[in-house]
Amino acid sequence: MRLPGLVDVHVHMREPGGTHKEDWDSGTAAALAGGVTMVLGMPNTRPAVTDNQTLDEALAAAASKARCDYGQYLGAGPVVPDVSGLAERIAGVKMYLDQTYGPLRLDEMDLWVRHFSAWPVQVPVAVHAEGRSLAAAILLASLADRPVHLCHVSTREEIEVIRMAKQSGVKVTCEVAPHHLFLCEEDAAAIGAGRSEVRPRLARRRDVEALWQNLDVIDCFATDHAPHTLAEKEGENPPPGFPGLETALPLFLNAVTEGRLSLEDIIQRYVTAPRRIFHLPEQADTWVEVDLDAAWEVRAAEMHSRCGWTPFEGWKLRGRVRSVTLRGQEVVRDGQVLAKVGSGRNVRL
Ligand code: DOR
Ligand code: ZN
Ligand code: ZN
Ligand code: ZN
Repeated sequence: MRLPGLVDVHVHMREPGGTHKEDWDSGTAAALAGGVTMVLGMPNTRPAVTDNQTLDEALAAAASKARCDYGQYLGAGPVVPDVSGLAERIAGVKMYLDQTYGPLRLDEMDLWVRHFSAWPVQVPVAVHAEGRSLAAAILLASLADRPVHLCHVSTREEIEVIRMAKQSGVKVTCEVAPHHLFLCEEDAAAIGAGRSEVRPRLARRRDVEALWQNLDVIDCFATDHAPHTLAEKEGENPPPGFPGLETALPLFLNAVTEGRLSLEDIIQRYVTAPRRIFHLPEQADTWVEVDLDAAWEVRAAEMHSRCGWTPFEGWKLRGRVRSVTLRGQEVVRDGQVLAKVGSGRNVRL
């Protein structure tokens, strides 16, 4: 069975500044191994990507190391930058409206307003906003009459607010991460206290059920691939985040076998809608060969991410990536990543 190359609009590549967790080489190898041929990198790096200079640094690392196609987000900071000369170079703008990993956070709502109105409407704006912040973000984007993309929606109240906003014509889109569809708070004990830290947190069982019941409101699947090492996850102050690039498609394929999703549901949310919302180019001669019948067990030891663990360790899944072809080149074959370091292209060039 052949699928188009997947487009993941929410990944953390950790370069610059966190390359012991992941870099543009290991992270894009993980992407390809999972059938993802295009990634959009988040800006909460060290330094954070907030201006032309820090963007240059992140894009230089990506250009020399990425194995799949990529774009880079700019993080909204306390000073709204001169958008001309920046808007065309970025995948989108990320606004952190609640506390999570890294220094980027916008506390003042008047700053949200200034960013919403400063960026041209064709520049995608994605927000990390949970609960009431999410409702506030929808309101302010709507008042500014510009589209807003809501990252990693995880609860019943969030998805229901989004449904209402869409019904009244607000230009809102959203994504859900696989860990919020396949895990709930009751799984945290088995995963381990430190390891199970993630933002938004693993939700209640009824929240997970509400996401599945409102699948029609979910525009995109995106991993929020957020690698931290095992030492960090099991240390003093465990940073939040799960790796996800190498387990997302297998989890979705397994859900197809279980009758909870269709292949069309996956393609719609993991290729078509991401391209439309983020104005991304089609990738010619690019596809993923999957085996829907292959039964296997998830093992971090076989993965390419540098973080060395997965919250899905030991899960028995049906459905696996056999090979990936990117722009006519076979870049993955049976778990081996063949793509050359630096062969990925910047989607905004
Ligand atoms: O769990 C998370 N980890 N949520 C985020 O929003 C950020 C991410 C990270 O960068 O580690
Ligand atoms: Zn986030
Ligand atoms: Zn994230
Ligand atoms: Zn477009």
